[in-house]
Amino acid sequence: MRDKIREIEKSAIEEIALAADAGALEKARVKYLGRKGLITELFKNMGGVFPADRAEVGKLINSLKETVSKAFDDKTPGLSGGRDSKAQKIDITLPGIVREVGHLHPISKTIEEICGVFISLGFKIVEGPEIENEHYNFEALNIPLEHPSRDAFDTFYLADKWLLRSHTSPVQVRFMEKNKPPFAIVIPGKVYRPDATDASHSFMFHQVEGLAVSDNIKFSDLKGALTLFARQMFGEKIKMRFRPSFFPFTEPSAEVDISCILCSNELRSTIPALPAGRHDSRKCSLCGGKGWIEILGAGMVNPKVFKNVGYNPEKTTGFAFGMGVERIAILKYGITDIRMFFENDIRFLRQF
Ligand code: PHE
Repeated sequence: MRDKIREIEKSAIEEIALAADAGALEKARVKYLGRKGLITELFKNMGGVFPADRAEVGKLINSLKETVSKAFDDKTPGLSGGRDSKAQKIDITLPGIVREVGHLHPISKTIEEICGVFISLGFKIVEGPEIENEHYNFEALNIPLEHPSRDAFDTFYLADKWLLRSHTSPVQVRFMEKNKPPFAIVIPGKVYRPDATDASHSFMFHQVEGLAVSDNIKFSDLKGALTLFARQMFGEKIKMRFRPSFFPFTEPSAEVDISCILCSNELRSTIPALPAGRHDSRKCSLCGGKGWIEILGAGMVNPKVFKNVGYNPEKTTGFAFGMGVERIAILKYGITDIRMFFENDIRFLRQF
């Protein structure tokens, strides 16, 4: 009896090890542990064992059964196909669990799109802090304390001269202090202004800043880069114009307009979503009939800013620009109210 037990254990372990798939394993299970299996038979034959040996033999058979059962259990998860006790409990006719897949917020998408155009031109992405001090937000950008231009960049003040940055331009200064030209960077991020909220104003919005610095950068480089950007963003037919303007940190400065994407006759044919004739170019809801819409501010970096970061203003040239991301998204997607970006209404967000 003892030899038989050992023999059965040996052959069972061997067969389990050799079972190549779930079918073979199941066959072996029936052979050893089935109702007429070899191990089950051993229990039935206990009657023939001397009463004095019964306790010991019983223990041996029990431990044989345990060893073999465990060998089956260990092997099962590694095999595929065939009868599997777990698989059998799954009702494959039940409807599946549909996981809702999210996607990028329209503002994140627009930031990626804007930065993507400049990355293709060799710009690198740089970020900076939203909590700033007066030096970086104003002074280093040539906006002195008593200068009226400070009003345009007014912001929320925190304790001890800390404030929420009102534009991404301070990151220009932070980057230049730590890096030497030549370089070209884009700076996406949140900015804050104490504006009352309405359809076109928000106390928080996003900007993408651009800065290219080297020893021979010209205004034509700025025009080239921005024209390419406008065409990629709004279509090949878009026209661009530069209006003289003022920013303390650029000289000369310009405000940059694109031809109105709603009413410009030439463009209307490229925007199939707009029914022809719906927008009267004389009183267009987007441009007010001017035919142009402002999209960003730009200029050649003011030598004073170069001086403030320790560059030689005689030998350094560069251009900079800054645009509002919400404004670009509003124009691109025909959104009528800036608040929609921040209300998190899923019916709005799902459309992007
Ligand atoms: N920082 C300016 C603004 O917020 C935009 C700008 C950036 C203009 C860089 C010129 C150069 O309005």
